[in-house]
Amino acid sequence: MRIIIVGFGNLGRGICKAFVEKADFLRKVHGLVPKVVAVADEFGAAVDENGLDLPQLLKTAESYKTVARYRGGRRGKLVLDLIDEVSADLVFELTPTNIKNGEPGLTHIRRAMQAGKHVITSNKGPLVVAFKELDSLARKQGVEFRYSASVGGAVPVIGLAKKLLSANEISEIRGVLNGTTNYILTRMSAEGVPQEIIIREAQELGLAEKDPTLDIDGIDTACKITILANAVLGMNAKLSDVKVVGIRRITPEATRLAQEAGQMIKLVGIARRDLLEVAPKLVPLGHPLAVGGTLNAVTFKLDLAREISITGFGAGPRETSSSLLGDLIDIHRALGG
Ligand code: HSE
Repeated sequence: MRIIIVGFGNLGRGICKAFVEKADFLRKVHGLVPKVVAVADEFGAAVDENGLDLPQLLKTAESYKTVARYRGGRRGKLVLDLIDEVSADLVFELTPTNIKNGEPGLTHIRRAMQAGKHVITSNKGPLVVAFKELDSLARKQGVEFRYSASVGGAVPVIGLAKKLLSANEISEIRGVLNGTTNYILTRMSAEGVPQEIIIREAQELGLAEKDPTLDIDGIDTACKITILANAVLGMNAKLSDVKVVGIRRITPEATRLAQEAGQMIKLVGIARRDLLEVAPKLVPLGHPLAVGGTLNAVTFKLDLAREISITGFGAGPRETSSSLLGDLIDIHRALGG
């Protein structure tokens, strides 16, 4: 499979590291040989029709902060040219989320589909702004489109809902869907440390969004709720349909008092056909949503299965590469591989 990667931050590098680490596994177990033929970041691109040397590319990106310094690399805004001109089967669109207009990811995804290339993305912006359009465009163009990493990090929330629970009508999805705020709330309650200090740590760990106010103000969770509403509940929801309150006003003292009362404060997102909401809520200790650290947790309310909960790591480059790589294997299978 010939692959173009657009965006080479934590997640772009994470998937390349996974390709290197799991090359034998992918070939032996799945008959999949990923060949990365082009990578673009905000400063330039590296291209090799025969496949880039990934360890070398990763070293270059770490040292010079751009892949343009890879041998034969070029500087400039080259993404659309690469998508049009480089011979490839699939594009990973991994640029940061822009909730205003989904750009530049939206244009990258449209262009890749128009060029007949399959698309995998973690980017919430295009999904929030234009989910229906992209879903239809993929069908029209006969290309595969996957976005598992956009919700839940490593936790297979979308795949579980759309595939394994497909016999059920889902009446509600309720979840702790932001690893950064969960990490902050957990540290605040355990150590009484103020938010600002922990936010910096979350950034260093590669958990937080490029703009961490998206995490803190609940917008990242609201994006995930919008994606779930559209992709799983079949709604036609916009981000502005979600009532949002973030965690700015939560103090260490509040988290301590909650704990003394046998509760935890969690930033909870709810997707129901009559309600889309994100807000800090009290969750009893021992409840499936009472998870700590960077964990995410989701509970589905279902007509047949009644209730199913799932938990796991909701952020972090290595963990999220599980979903990105899972999408790639899924497409490989869908194509008969
Ligand atoms: N900033 C997000 C989080 C990354 O903390 O959950 C995963 O979507």
